[in-house]
Amino acid sequence: MNSKIQKLESKIAEAKLGGGQKRIDRQHEKGKLTARERIDYLLDEGSFEEIGILVTHRTTDFGMENQKFYGDGVVTGYGTVNGRLIYVFAQDFTVFGGSLSETHAEKICKIMDMAVRVGAPLIGLNDSGGARIQEGVRSLGGYADIFYRNVQASGVIPQISAIMGPCAGGAVYSPAMTDFTVMVENSSYMFVTGPNVVKTVTNEEVTSEELGGASTHATKSGVTHLTSENDVQCLEDIKTLLSYMPQNNQEVTKKLPYELQDEFREELESIVPENANKPYDMRSVINGIADTDSFFEIHKDYADNIVVGFARLAGRSIGIVANQPMSLAGCLDVNSSKKAARFTRFCDCFNIPLLVLVDVPGFLPGTDQEWNAIITNGAKLLYALSEATVPRVSVITRKAYGGAYDVMNSKHIGSDMNFAWPSAEIAVMGAKGASEIIFKKEISEADDKEAKLAEKEAEYADLFANPYTAAERGFVDEVILPKETRRKLIKAFAMLENKKVERPNRKHGNIPL
Ligand code: HXC
Repeated sequence: MNSKIQKLESKIAEAKLGGGQKRIDRQHEKGKLTARERIDYLLDEGSFEEIGILVTHRTTDFGMENQKFYGDGVVTGYGTVNGRLIYVFAQDFTVFGGSLSETHAEKICKIMDMAVRVGAPLIGLNDSGGARIQEGVRSLGGYADIFYRNVQASGVIPQISAIMGPCAGGAVYSPAMTDFTVMVENSSYMFVTGPNVVKTVTNEEVTSEELGGASTHATKSGVTHLTSENDVQCLEDIKTLLSYMPQNNQEVTKKLPYELQDEFREELESIVPENANKPYDMRSVINGIADTDSFFEIHKDYADNIVVGFARLAGRSIGIVANQPMSLAGCLDVNSSKKAARFTRFCDCFNIPLLVLVDVPGFLPGTDQEWNAIITNGAKLLYALSEATVPRVSVITRKAYGGAYDVMNSKHIGSDMNFAWPSAEIAVMGAKGASEIIFKKEISEADDKEAKLAEKEAEYADLFANPYTAAERGFVDEVILPKETRRKLIKAFAMLENKKVERPNRKHGNIPL
């Protein structure tokens, strides 16, 4: 018996060494953790249970039968993060560069299937040279098996991808179909075709970092939702992200203990400037409303004219979508509409109530926007909010103009409770633009045109640049003082906790993609 136990122990020790100490050292020299170190850091101490540690590939081409490593380049299993079950796979770059073979893919698929059956989040730690070149189409099939499962799991369990090394070619499409992507700065990249192919086809010279590094995808493409300084920070960010989510679409996020106290926040009174054209940072409003230090921003450096992220309100997890007057005056454009629509849909999938903070002068005008389909893209946000059945509450802090008023979670598209601050202006457009159009004749005939315009502007502003006309119609439920916003929102979300909405039976809607 002893020799049998020794055999097992030696196999496990060999498996834990991955591609060998030299390759582990190389990984460390690059400032990266190994697959096992990453899992150890992510999960609660001692909670990891590995599945398939002794799996090896089945390839015999290119002398591969003599090159086998237990685990075959991916560590898979389950464990807990802050006491909650998760499934995880971590690609092991020390084994064939973490490349994906048929059996490597089977291991990932096995835990994906289990995660869906059990109803627990799936975390993928990607660090791979892509398709195992020696395996050809069997590897491509393995990728497709994973993609298919990503889609079946979408909206059922949360899926998070960390990119902690290379992720190239078709391999990028698994992270792209998960809910959130986190990239490690300076050591990860994602692209469909790398710099060499780009040079051959387009003659463009570009580095991997410029083409698909963390900063590129955080600012230009929006492919990544978060970037982290290093592996450890990336794993911390995943833990934080998980804390706002339920385990699956049948649950709600557990409420953290919270003692209701004096919920007035005086600092909210002085954020919106007197001058309606002066910007202010909507993040100050968010921080003024949310539980202290609870706001976790997503897509921070992409389309910064809208702010999205998770926060807690009296211990409850909520999603926030907010116009940002500091950038493009808070106008909606193509990218901000896509960003907010995607975030809205995540929250709706996973029963996370939505708070929408509104200060929007309209859609961004111009050929660039029209030619890049602001019509279709703006419609994404309108569609996403209209279909969301989670509790939805809006606060109009200042402008809510034109079509953007409708889009930004108006009562008309199913918002449950809409509050407005006394500084709110709810109108078809700004007072100046409106007066120039409807009083054009009167102004042109006046001796002092400027004075006439100013007079008409004041008249229009008096009538519409306020929240009261909307409140009289019931389009705004209550005009509130900024300092009482937090208290009002805590009560509104608690009141809406058991909200249920029945939708007509259909296969699925047809969001304007
Ligand atoms: C098999 C691979 C591999 C791969 C790397 N290795 N990629 N083995 N299949 N795809 C092996 C290397 O041979 C090497 O083995 C070890 O992993 C480490 O690789 P290095 O090149 O030494 O590492 P590094 O210098 O850090 O470069 C990493 C890399 C490079 C940039 C990822 O390895 C690379 O360009 N690999 C090929 C990438 C690629 O073209 N993949 C196919 C993409 S197409 P030894 O034994 O020397 O340590 C694709 C399609 C997916 O993925 C389609 C899905 C639908």
